[in-house]
Amino acid sequence: MENTTAEKRKVVFSGIQPSGNITLGNYMGALRNFTSFENADCLYCMADLHTLTVRQNPADLRKRTASLAAIYIACGLDPDENIIYCQSHVPAHAELAWVLNCYTYMGELSRMTQFKDKSQKHADNINAGLFTYPVLMASDILLYQTNIVPVGVDQKQHVEICRDIAQRFNGIYGDVFQIPEPYIPKATAKIMSLTEPTKKMSKSDPEDTFIAVLDKPEDIRRKLKRAVTDSDGEIRFDPENKPGVSNLLTILSVLKKETMEETVASLQGLGYGALKEAVTEAVIGELAPIQARYNEIIADKDGLNAILKRNAEKAQYLAQKTLRKVYKKVGLYQG
Ligand code: TYM
Repeated sequence: MENTTAEKRKVVFSGIQPSGNITLGNYMGALRNFTSFENADCLYCMADLHTLTVRQNPADLRKRTASLAAIYIACGLDPDENIIYCQSHVPAHAELAWVLNCYTYMGELSRMTQFKDKSQKHADNINAGLFTYPVLMASDILLYQTNIVPVGVDQKQHVEICRDIAQRFNGIYGDVFQIPEPYIPKATAKIMSLTEPTKKMSKSDPEDTFIAVLDKPEDIRRKLKRAVTDSDGEIRFDPENKPGVSNLLTILSVLKKETMEETVASLQGLGYGALKEAVTEAVIGELAPIQARYNEIIADKDGLNAILKRNAEKAQYLAQKTLRKVYKKVGLYQG
């Protein structure tokens, strides 16, 4: 059949920072959705350059980057079908970021809530990279002519500024960049901390606030046992008034692939102990096969490195096409 009318394949791009233990929030809000795009060209990077905006221990960073690559694959991303690579292995990211820095205003960057939060948290190290972080993220996305960016809701503002930068650039130079759309499924947009359920679960917070994808079953059990609930004893989905219980219900219903009504109904007449037990079983059941695959992948470092090298070459090839176009448009001499 003629292919001329066939729709162009969509491009999906996302990234995760190897800045801590990958959490159940990262898994449910992002990773788990990465495998859901069919008939699309998908790229997923380990955003290692972004991690430098906060001081890192170099040896830990190296280890966590390889570990995140293995987690991507263990979660079901076939590295022959998806381009899984390390951001710093593709120089075009940093190169485009420089150009886009010159098309981004100080005012719009200073409105970013993540910048405000992180400058408070790291008051002794408010560096220029922390400020221009969203420009590097915009470059990640725009280099590949991305259509869809699957993220949690905390990254929505960054996708929005990316769209603004792309539209501004296109307004001056013509259609250089595809304008991307965020993809944020509502149920998993923001998984909450186990100990402070009005706050996002975050890999940069203390260990007992989150479940890590690589946590042992006994750690998962212990952390969930201690998860904060409330004192009224009723199992009901009400994020505003019952954030702890509602967070546990969200985790359970999503992992069991049930509607919230089904999950709540299945627990009627039971107490929080039963709810926590059900969540524990669901989380362990979800993560056990991922951890088994992870252990195999990480044991073969040479194999993993070969995958990352091959995929970085593929990414660089695609990225270079956009970068060349940008350099030409802005007037950098091409010879
Ligand atoms: P990062 O590393 O903080 O988080 C990775 C992904 O996980 C999502 N997420 C959550 N979703 C639901 N509930 C939570 N508690 C939760 N915590 C984290 C995040 O929204 C994100 O989707 N700047 C990005 C990394 C990045 C990127 C990109 C993302 C770099 N370049 C280009 C998309 C496109 C970040 O720090 O994510």
